[in-house]
Amino acid sequence: MIHLQGQVVVITGAGRGIGRSHALAFATRGARVVVNDLGVSYDGARETLSPADSVVEEIRRAGGEAIADYNDISNWDGAQALLDGALRAFNRVDTLVNNAAIIRPAPLTDTTARDLDDVVRVNVKGTFAPLQVFAAHWKTEGTRSPGGHSRSVICTTSRVGFRPAPYYVVYGLTKSAVAYLVEGAAAELAGLGIRVNGIAPRADTRMMGDATRRLNEIAGSVGIAGVFGDSSATERPAEPVESISPLVLWLASAASRAVTGAIFSVMAGRIALLDGRHERSVFTLPVTHTPEDVDHALSGLEAP
Ligand SMILES: NC(=O)c1ccc[n+]([C@@H]2O[C@H](COP(=O)([O-])OP(=O)(O)OC[C@H]3O[C@@H](n4cnc5c(N)ncnc54)[C@H](O)[C@@H]3O)[C@@H](O)[C@H]2O)c1
Repeated sequence: MIHLQGQVVVITGAGRGIGRSHALAFATRGARVVVNDLGVSYDGARETLSPADSVVEEIRRAGGEAIADYNDISNWDGAQALLDGALRAFNRVDTLVNNAAIIRPAPLTDTTARDLDDVVRVNVKGTFAPLQVFAAHWKTEGTRSPGGHSRSVICTTSRVGFRPAPYYVVYGLTKSAVAYLVEGAAAELAGLGIRVNGIAPRADTRMMGDATRRLNEIAGSVGIAGVFGDSSATERPAEPVESISPLVLWLASAASRAVTGAIFSVMAGRIALLDGRHERSVFTLPVTHTPEDVDHALSGLEAP
């Protein structure tokens, strides 16, 4: 069994999509969850409400423990406030899942300074700042976690960060930076007992649907319509968000204690360990699977 009972997990951008799925999955295993979400559209425009409350309500209704957090994690003070809130509520933190991001597909020639600043701020600073703030806190506690759990950070990158695509250049470069951060931070923080790993997911979410629609509008306007496919097409196999979370739960657990500095691509039961731009080992699981299935498939895996 993968044990997460009592673990305290902080997940950024957990109000929707992949982050929401992580939050529900951790709570089902008895972890206590901080559901962070600022409440923005896929391209970063502020919305009136944060979806964090409804995820917390869902977890509590099912008998789990969770609190909502509305901080903007791309702001250093916001990242610190996220940690402070988690410590006030639960006295300690064991796992940080850096999941929040935004995307603004656009031709390079139309990209504005504001687009570049916003996407870099949320995706790069919004990953770096929580990682820095949480790692600095863990350093003050020494190498052993008070709860005896494994200290783990899971960051979210994207295939586009490894395989550049038109109109995704700004998003891709931020995700490439996240991959660099995973590997650099893992090497540096190992001595503090902190593991840092990455996932490059693909799943049916608002971001995926809205970004693909926007890409197709751009492609249509330059006469190459259809190249990006239609994320809502019925013949496309489903890529449920729930198929991403078991790997993340495994990475947060002691079962993956030997794994740090690794980046996995993951979608619909297909998990691959990335080695630079290439897939080194590929594991095929059913679309619906558990963290124990991941453990069984990946046991003995050595991180790059
Ligand atoms: N869906 C995919 O196929 C796919 C592919 C590759 C990578 N990813 C990555 O997976 C992660 C989750 O994506 P998703 O598809 O679930 O997206 P989503 O847009 O459905 O959810 C992202 C959430 O993050 C929140 N958020 C954005 N900026 C924030 C900020 N500054 N502070 C706090 N919260 C903030 C949003 O309000 C939103 O609820 C992202 O890092 C994304 O880049 C997704």
